[in-house]
Order: sequence, then C-alpha cells, then structure tokens
Amino acid sequence: MTTTTSTPLRETARALVGAGRGILAADESVGTMSKRLQGAGVEPTQENRRAYRELLVTTERLADGVSGVIFCDETLRQSLADGRTFPRGLADLGMMAGIKVDTGTTPLAGADGETLTEGLDGLAGRVAEYVGLGARFAKWRAVLSIGDGRPSSWALLANAHALALYARVCQDAGLVPVVEPEILSEGAHTVHETAAATGRTLATLARTLADAGVDPAGMVLKPNMVTAGASAGRQCTPEEVARATVDTLRATMPTDLAGVAFLSGGQSSETAAANLAAIRRLDTPWPTTFSFGRALVSPALGAWRGDTGAVADGQAALAGEVRRNVPVLSG
Ligand code: 13P
Repeated sequence: MTTTTSTPLRETARALVGAGRGILAADESVGTMSKRLQGAGVEPTQENRRAYRELLVTTERLADGVSGVIFCDETLRQSLADGRTFPRGLADLGMMAGIKVDTGTTPLAGADGETLTEGLDGLAGRVAEYVGLGARFAKWRAVLSIGDGRPSSWALLANAHALALYARVCQDAGLVPVVEPEILSEGAHTVHETAAATGRTLATLARTLADAGVDPAGMVLKPNMVTAGASAGRQCTPEEVARATVDTLRATMPTDLAGVAFLSGGQSSETAAANLAAIRRLDTPWPTTFSFGRALVSPALGAWRGDTGAVADGQAALAGEVRRNVPVLSG
C-alpha cells in the first residue's frame, strides 16, 4: 500500500485532526473523575459522572470544533438522558467516540520508580467489543518523567513496546490509535532537557511502531508540548515552546503521520491555547491540533458544580475553551 492510498482507517484518522478540529479527552478513570467531582463539590456517583459527560458532549455546536471525544469504559457503556448510548449520540451530533484502552500504570521492574502502562492482556477481545459498541478510535497513555537519569532507556523501550503493540491491535480491528507518550511537566528541568527527553522518547517510539508495522497515516500522535518544567525558574514564550516542539517532532516522526494532537498536561487553559496557536503558526508536515483534557474541561466543571440549573453555564465554559483552540471559530 502506498503512503497516499486511502483506507477507512486513514480517513478516520484524518477526520480526527482535520479542518482545525481537535479531540476532547473526557476519559478520566472512575477514580480520577470521582476525585475531580469531589474537588468541585459534586458527589462522585456513577450518575454524576454520566451527567457530567452528557453536559460536555451535548454542548451546542461542539462538533464545530471537536471531531471526537475520548471516554473511559464506564461512559462508553452509558446512555444520554434520551436513551441513546454515548457513541450513538455522539455520531448523531457529528463526532466520533474514542475509548481509553490502557488500564493504568504499574511500577516497572528494573526501573527505580518509573512505570509501565498496562492493558495488553486480552486487548484484542476488548477492542473487538468496543468496535461493536461504536468506538472509532482508542487511546493508550504511557507516562514518563524527567530527572535522576529519567526517562531511562529501559522505561522508554518497555513503554514503546506496549504502545506499538496496542496501536497494531487497534489498527487490525479498524480503530485509529491515539498514541500518547506523555512526559510529565513536574520538575525544574529546562526546555532543552524536555526537548532531549522528548526526542529520545519519540525516536524510540517511531522505531518500535515501524517494527510493529503500524501505519503512520492511520494513527494520531498525542505528545506533550516541549516546555520548561512546571517549577522551572524561567518559563518559555509560546514561540519558544512552538519552535522546540516542532523541531523535536520533525526530527523524529514520519512525515506521513495522520496528525499530532497535543495533551495539555496541567498547563492552564490560556497557556495551552497560546502554545498551540504558536505551534500552528509553524510549518509542519502533519496537521497539529489539541487532544486536551483539563485545559478544556476544568472551567466547565467549575461552572457546573453538579447544579442542574448550571448546565448551560458549564456548556458555555466548554464552548469558550473550544473556540479558543479552533482558529476558524475564534477568527
Ligand atoms: P490533559 O490534557 O489534561 O493532560 O489530558 C489529556 C489526556 O488525555 C491524558 O491522558
């Protein structure tokens, strides 16, 4: 197959990152979502987790800026108040449903304090079920950190292996993998250290994806932006972040990747949007967009706070964050 042949998988991947639209990450695990709800003063029940996701996806004209929404297993099986399942409702609204298929991190043997993301056991069976439930794409998040010899080569290899195998299983089943090797921003490292660590991570990942026969044109990369550490004395301008990020990606990733959708990684909504806008001003071989979680949803959760009378406020907050990140909407 040539790099320009169209396949359904490639069409889906292109649609996820095309037309300036991006991905909304609403796939917090039950535990994480419950903590976020409690933080906003909302009782962490199954129904409140459902109601919160319904608030997000039924935001008016969300599909103008959002191509797909990532859910966790619980939400994918839940329904909107009108009885449609989340994947069905999303499709009717012009968006695609994604599913987080990793099962979280565990300590990696032989790597002091570093982690391996798990979820490969039985993955092909789960993926087949998710396809039946209406999922069109799937996410797996590896977590790496900087400092004290980290990320180690062993942690990079072990996590790249898992990412490549998950991506291949997904593509074989017709799901677009959204491949997320996240380097955490915690720490006082410089932007140069982040660039070096991200470069090593992505170079290892690109080699391993190629070994597994993963089609770059049928996947989306979800990396961290290359920034200074969250507690570094000097933070970068958006232009510095953009240059370092694009240089690192260009040096490591194939040009026929369907697209790059960045995570927000704890940046404020304003900072994440400014950095993404600067990245988009640079020339890249692939579309660049967002696959933000916190930067998009935190204001919505804060505005809603579980109050049925404040659903419209939560939705207005989300719509504002989406507009901020979609050039055609903010224009
Ligand atoms: P953040 O944008 O909040 O980093 O979340 C994105 C995500 O999907 C993490 O796996």
